[in-house]
Amino acid sequence: MDKTELMKDVLKVTGIAPIIAYAEPEQAVPAAKALVAGGLPVVEVLMRNEHAMGNLERIARDVPEIVAGAGTIITLDQAKAAIDHGAQFIIMPGIGRQVVEYCIDKKIPVILDGDPGHDDAIAWVLARASRELGILAVTSCCGNQTIEKTTYNALRVCTLIGLHAPVGKGCPHPLLNDVMNAPSVHGESGLDGPALPEPAFEASALSAPELMAKVLRESPEPVTIVATGPQTNVAALLLAHPELKCKIARISLMGGGIATGNWTPAAEFNILVDPEAARIVFTSGVPITMAGLDVTEKALIMPEDFERVRALGNPVSDIVAQWLEFFYKFHRSIGYAGAPMHDPCAVMALIHPEIFTIRPMYVQIETEGEYCRGTTVGDLLGFSGHAPNADVLMDVDRGRFADLLVEAIKFYGEAEA
Ligand code: BDR
Ligand code: CA
Repeated sequence: MDKTELMKDVLKVTGIAPIIAYAEPEQAVPAAKALVAGGLPVVEVLMRNEHAMGNLERIARDVPEIVAGAGTIITLDQAKAAIDHGAQFIIMPGIGRQVVEYCIDKKIPVILDGDPGHDDAIAWVLARASRELGILAVTSCCGNQTIEKTTYNALRVCTLIGLHAPVGKGCPHPLLNDVMNAPSVHGESGLDGPALPEPAFEASALSAPELMAKVLRESPEPVTIVATGPQTNVAALLLAHPELKCKIARISLMGGGIATGNWTPAAEFNILVDPEAARIVFTSGVPITMAGLDVTEKALIMPEDFERVRALGNPVSDIVAQWLEFFYKFHRSIGYAGAPMHDPCAVMALIHPEIFTIRPMYVQIETEGEYCRGTTVGDLLGFSGHAPNADVLMDVDRGRFADLLVEAIKFYGEAEA
């Protein structure tokens, strides 16, 4: 395959990969500048002669968008190391195809923000098990329980699943609302049910918004935030660091519902807890995936699926089965046929979008209203004339969802877990 074809191929499949493979800065600098000016992503420039490192440094000085790489690259392993350092593309005659495959295998960098919570915890179990996601940080938020309890739960869950990422404690209360928790659903601890290991490490000294900011600042590529609680931390981040908005690739959130609410007739819990924060997020211009009740109440894990999870017989599967049972007990009492996997939808949408029906839509957050505070008003019929600001999940292949979740939990019985 010639280089142009390879370039197109890489760009098509990864969305990240223009190339320059010139020998000299005199040629590379103008070409890199043109690519950057044309809106193409960061460019890696590598050469294969002894002058490579010096040349690379000169080019990176002139074009700051260039991610300086690992120097002269002569093997596939060195190419992979450079990609791990943030190189967005490398071309090496002869091994281009393997590098392309490596790029495809590259993980989506994510921050997990949530209020565990049974379904948050299962969402994190799924994220940790997935080979598509690279978890850079975890942040707790105030929602299902107080920030003290959800932070403790976040640390316990990370310890259970061997997730070694910094954990940032979130904002203690919503932007304007008083604290509102959900002990009827998740219990007094916020994660009642099976005994969990005590945290093997402490929370970061940085608050959730500051930890998010640090991760975004340091990441060579935009990061996706998976927000499965109220949007308080994300809104605080956007307010404090508007300059980092461009480093957020997407916010995949659980919240709202176009057709219905679950905490009032019109509002879903996460949005109702902090409608002002949700409004900041939905008007931020950052791409949003919205997993609202329209889809999450269809993503049911049935009692027979609990048994499939339990039968996996690994250190995490038994706990997940008990979480499912606990979560289902409340939902069965109000008429559900299974346990709704609200929060795991926000993760599954990133790794298996093909199992969802997705409708781009303009969604506004009602912050006033006698009956409708906290409602996600979806412009299904296009009345507003606004361009869509969210990819709204409307339906899911339930069977595939359940199979994929069960399959993912096998990871915890494998050597690398
Ligand atoms: C949402 O509310 C919380 O109780 C769950 O964790 C989920 O994020 C569903 O309305
Ligand atoms: Ca949650």
